[in-house]
Amino acid sequence: FPYTQWARNMATTCSDKYIIHRGLLLPKETHTEESLRFAAEFEFKNDDVLIVTYPKSGTTWMQEIIPLLLNGGDLTPVTTIPNWDRVPWFEETRLALVLDKLKSPRVMVSHLPYNLMPSSLSSSKAKVIYVTRNPKDAMVSSFHFHKMANFLDDPGNFQEFMDKFLTGQVLFGKWTDHIKSWKHADLGDRILYTTYEAMVENLPGSLGEFSTFLGNDLSEKTLLGIADHCCFKNMSKNCMSNYSLVPKEFMDPSKSQFLRKGISGDWKNHFSPEQDLKFSACISEEMKGENLCFPWCG
Ligand code: A3P
Repeated sequence: FPYTQWARNMATTCSDKYIIHRGLLLPKETHTEESLRFAAEFEFKNDDVLIVTYPKSGTTWMQEIIPLLLNGGDLTPVTTIPNWDRVPWFEETRLALVLDKLKSPRVMVSHLPYNLMPSSLSSSKAKVIYVTRNPKDAMVSSFHFHKMANFLDDPGNFQEFMDKFLTGQVLFGKWTDHIKSWKHADLGDRILYTTYEAMVENLPGSLGEFSTFLGNDLSEKTLLGIADHCCFKNMSKNCMSNYSLVPKEFMDPSKSQFLRKGISGDWKNHFSPEQDLKFSACISEEMKGENLCFPWCG
């Protein structure tokens, strides 16, 4: 792979908990060269659904929502199959083990940028839902996640973690690069863009939008039932989705819960005014000319 100087620097400074793949930092616990090759050579089917997120932007939430929308609200899969097998990560080692067990339409999640997707994504008719979240909240969520996930490095103090986030020395690289890569994906009407904030604001409305996009319009009653199951309070109790099945040596809920707060704007409880200014300026500079309007801007 064409390693840049930047990737070489990362490779020399990153701990043995990570691998560097095409300049991106990935956890060794769940990613190998083989799993990444498997993803690179993957053949998408026309009815596949891929959910894409930058880390900590609502992945687990979508792993709950999409199977329910596709099966008309039958709770069986979400109450009997752990989220990582129900809607596996596209780039992780687990995919090869569970792929044959996925029922059609297959649903997967990915944190990869668009440029690392196999060509079969654009040549097939597979659909993509891209969920983004206010980067300040994604960073706060990630900071707490690094404290509880023992297979990741300690995040250091909040300022140190923010510096790493803004320079892209975090899992899956820079938030701005991720957003830009998927914004320019040439998938036409096969990609739906949404936000975590829109889902927090009006979950039944978002579910209706996803359901229409997936081509299986559901009744309002069914959508409300799914929304009720997927609200933060109820979903937090689902042991198939709250990571309580993971041994404590990998994820320690006494340090932070995986489903932690489930709100928009928690960054206000973490950022100083100076940090807010610096963070906003850095993101605006990198997003200059992209013409994107997010619910958290303005
Ligand atoms: P917080 O840490 O801010 O609470 P991911 O699944 O991409 O790792 O993202 C995790 C974030 O999504 C966590 O954010 C988690 O609480 C939030 N989340 C998961 N399920 C949710 C739900 N049903 N409602 C609202 N937020 C949810």
